[in-house]
Amino acid sequence: MREVALVLPWKRALGAGLLIASLHAGVSAAEPDMEAGRALFVGATPACAICHTLNDAQSSGAIGPKLDEIKPDAARVATAIRNGIGQMPAYTSLSDQEIEVLAAYVAKATGGQP
Ligand code: HEC
Repeated sequence: MREVALVLPWKRALGAGLLIASLHAGVSAAEPDMEAGRALFVGATPACAICHTLNDAQSSGAIGPKLDEIKPDAARVATAIRNGIGQMPAYTSLSDQEIEVLAAYVAKATGGQP
């Protein structure tokens, strides 16, 4: 039941994040689009920022691990976003491209592998 409560309000609020990301469509994955990634990090619902500390996004969430400390590579971030992990919900409504942008952003911002 907790899952439903998280997912429904999120779908309604997703529009803004999708719009921001689509404006940046076409940016190559080689050079992460930090602006779009940051916007998704704080703008996806539920926002990554409410659960995670990430200095680049000025977030101090403490439910999930500090991303600056675990320095995940992009593949690890993408897997967590797609499938969820522990208390973290799966973000089934993000497009592959949005997940790619977000994963590349988190990896680069924390110094993890691309
Ligand atoms: C509801 C709180 C919550 C939200 C929202 C959330 N996370 Fe998490 N996240 C967690 C928790 C809790 C864990 C640790 C799960 C575990 O290891 O059991 C985690 C783990 C992770 C991990 C590590 C995965 C691993 O392999 O160990 C990454 C990377 C991550 N989250 C990124 C994100 C990103 C990016 C977003 C936004 C799209 C996000 N999280 C949104 C709570 C959250």
